[in-house]
Amino acid sequence: MPAPGSQFDRKTLFLRACRGEATDRAPVWMMRQAGRYLPEYRAVRAKHSFLEVCKTPSLAVEVSLQPFHALGMDAVIVFSDILIPAEAMGLTIHFADGGPELPEKIRSRSDVERLRDFDPERETRFLPDAISELCRSLGPEVPVLGFAAAPWTLACYMVDGGGHAGFPHTKRMLHAQPELFHQLLRRIARNTARYLQAQLAAGAAAVQLFDTWAGELSRHDYDAFALPALQQLLSDLKPGNAPVIYYSKASNHLLESAARSGVTVLSVDWRVDLAQLRATLLERTKRLWPLQGNVDPTVLYSPETAIGAAARSALAQTSGRAHILNLGHGILPDVTVESARAFIQAGQTRMHDVAAEQIAPAPAVAPISTGNP
Ligand code: CP3
Repeated sequence: MPAPGSQFDRKTLFLRACRGEATDRAPVWMMRQAGRYLPEYRAVRAKHSFLEVCKTPSLAVEVSLQPFHALGMDAVIVFSDILIPAEAMGLTIHFADGGPELPEKIRSRSDVERLRDFDPERETRFLPDAISELCRSLGPEVPVLGFAAAPWTLACYMVDGGGHAGFPHTKRMLHAQPELFHQLLRRIARNTARYLQAQLAAGAAAVQLFDTWAGELSRHDYDAFALPALQQLLSDLKPGNAPVIYYSKASNHLLESAARSGVTVLSVDWRVDLAQLRATLLERTKRLWPLQGNVDPTVLYSPETAIGAAARSALAQTSGRAHILNLGHGILPDVTVESARAFIQAGQTRMHDVAAEQIAPAPAVAPISTGNP
């Protein structure tokens, strides 16, 4: 069955956009699309803890499907969290109201050495099981996305012990014990590669790496620490034909480096002008880079007409070419379902309709007055 507004089915549309091939419109989905803005998600969470939902394939599948059934976006991301591998590597994780906490912070050489290498096929079996069940239930025409944190962002949570502004302890380790920090990043990269391989083997059509905290780094430190770990991850992963989407936030200064990591698609936030980014990357890499993003999630607080206009304005920056429309960060928990729907529907408008809107209609010509001689 073709996706709304397209001749292609959703998976073909998504994969073509990731590979930079021609499409009749851009595919659209939303980061954190399974979550608290949906009443049916809140109903599941009223009965089960967050980690219970992550680790019970039937529940993870149920909440992954909720946004697809409500809004019909073009991709379904499996429900999980970027911190699951931290737990599998031996750390305790708590999801408190103020965000995740990891009380056993990684601060010393013995802390890094205590981290375990885990077997994702066995120790986080619930995730590949959820992915294969999603693939079965959605059929071959809807892409299921797997994901993990990029090494730098997972290291931030492991060393600081939570989402702490500026990640001062992580940056301290980077500068005071650079060799130890490299070792930590390598451990994470190695485990993450296997974790993503298990997701691809289970049927994920593509995987996304979340580098939410990349923007905390200078270009120099990104190139010295985050980038080599990312490159190692990609070379261990060997994703074959499966696209790897790399999301980074507040990272305009890092994107030319990120383009050297081996990923397929760059996913950026609303601070980036997509047309400018594409032009810069074309000049520097001689490649037309597939891009994902980048509407500010707070735009979903505006009236529906403004939400549609923001989606179309992001699409106009790429002409909808090699573009996966998304938000610039996760959807916020208190937006309305109607606002989310307005975003998805605007995204699923055919490109020629977008083009027609961008070319403003000629102003109405005032009728020639017949009263004058
Ligand atoms: O996109 C999806 O729908 C798939 C599920 C998904 C979740 N987290 C579910 C979740 C994904 C892809 C993530 C990624 C994630 N997790 C990131 C990277 C993206 C980003 O938002 O920057 C990060 C940094 C985390 C870590 C994390 N998990 C934080 C900071 C929080 C607390 C903040 C919050 O939104 O409450 C979580 C919890 C979390 N992960 C929730 C969900 C739906 C909310 C928990 C709940 O139901 O109470």
